[in-house]
Amino acid sequence: MDRLRIVGGNALSGSVEISGAKNAALPILFAAILSEQKSIIRNVPLLADINTTLKVLDSLGLGTLFKLENHTMEIDGSTLNAHEAPYELVSTMRASVLVLGPLLARKGIAKVSLPGGCAIGARPVDIHLMALEKLGATFTIENGYIEGHAPNGLVGAKINFPFPSVGATENTLMACVLANGKSEIHNVAREPEIVDLAIALRSMGAKISGEGSETILVEGVKSLTGMNHGVAPDRIEAATFLCAGLMTKGKVTVTGISADFMQSALDFLSQAGAKISSTKDSITAEYVKELTPLNIVTEPFPGFPTDMQAQFMALLTQANGKSIISETIFENRFMHVPELIRLGAKIKIKGNEATIEGPVKLTGATVMATDLRASACLIIAGLAAKGETFIKRVYHLDRGYEQIEQKLSQIGAKIYREKDK
Ligand code: EPU
Repeated sequence: MDRLRIVGGNALSGSVEISGAKNAALPILFAAILSEQKSIIRNVPLLADINTTLKVLDSLGLGTLFKLENHTMEIDGSTLNAHEAPYELVSTMRASVLVLGPLLARKGIAKVSLPGGCAIGARPVDIHLMALEKLGATFTIENGYIEGHAPNGLVGAKINFPFPSVGATENTLMACVLANGKSEIHNVAREPEIVDLAIALRSMGAKISGEGSETILVEGVKSLTGMNHGVAPDRIEAATFLCAGLMTKGKVTVTGISADFMQSALDFLSQAGAKISSTKDSITAEYVKELTPLNIVTEPFPGFPTDMQAQFMALLTQANGKSIISETIFENRFMHVPELIRLGAKIKIKGNEATIEGPVKLTGATVMATDLRASACLIIAGLAAKGETFIKRVYHLDRGYEQIEQKLSQIGAKIYREKDK
């Protein structure tokens, strides 16, 4: 197993090219199931979760393995010959549940291992199933698998989400595009990744409007063509690099992304005292004065993203005063806190609220990554800590950040991947 070694203390300076968004690429790759033709998907980030997605598609007969070159994937929808996402794959990536909508829409049958609990929360799929049931699917849960049937096809419906779940919005949207008739989906997720999925589906001939707002309207069509789509940039990767720059009192520019994708995170960085400037396809954050504390609540888009909560927490250990972060999306997303404390942070947790006292002097230690964003948080902290920080279980990081050591080294970080002893 690999670990990261970071020698802290260097101010980061320079420019980083942002990769395609993991959380946009995953549903878009699954959307290729909807067509009997070839789809070309560009700007796919090279990540462990993408490899898992390719394995799921391969197990459905789509023959995608080894076709990823220069971030471009070709998926041939004509060879679909199965309808099951097995436990071995779903248990390594919950997003595999996104095959439900496309398989029900195209084949009228889908079988997916029920995802178990997850490090950051229980993460049930009840909203996904409720919405697909409204479209006429029926489900049974047996032997750890969800099996869905819609032998006569799906039928458009009016659906109200009790919460704007990202995954449920994606599954439902992919089901509605081939359903018979019109659908109206209310209180949906508005994340940029949903908008990117809608753009990809429209390029296949789907009739969708309203993405990015609270209501999406879909008029089902009989069949879809393949897509040729470039995945949108990763706003979480971009914001992570900006935090890393500020944490080291440096100046970092992220390119290939515009500020509209991540306004809430940028507003908080400005509020903390960073100097933010942007062009149509780049954003720069510069450390100009001691950081001021923040009061942050994670929320569905356009609110502050839960996927940036851990990275901001690392940053706020350097703000002068008491910051509060409330996590409202996941019930167990503070697992980085004890690890940050090992590096010298002063953080107290009460329920879903963390109080961070700063500024503290961080010092290097051996810490354990517990999930993807926790890994990024520990890297950010390690970059500012005195001495050496070792981050174990770095495989979490490889699920969602493409070439992070190379990108950080390029802007002056001392970060090395080595074999864990
Ligand atoms: N929820 C339910 N029932 C459902 C679906 C969701 O109760 O049927 C709850 C979840 O348990 C959670 C909350 O609703 O407490 C939010 O879940 P959501 O469905 O919105 O999230 P997701 O689709 O499972 C995606 C991202 C996550 C990101 C969340 C929130 C992908 C592949 N994953 O997950 O990304 O944190 O949206 O923005 O898009 C990450 O990249 O590190 C990551 C965890």
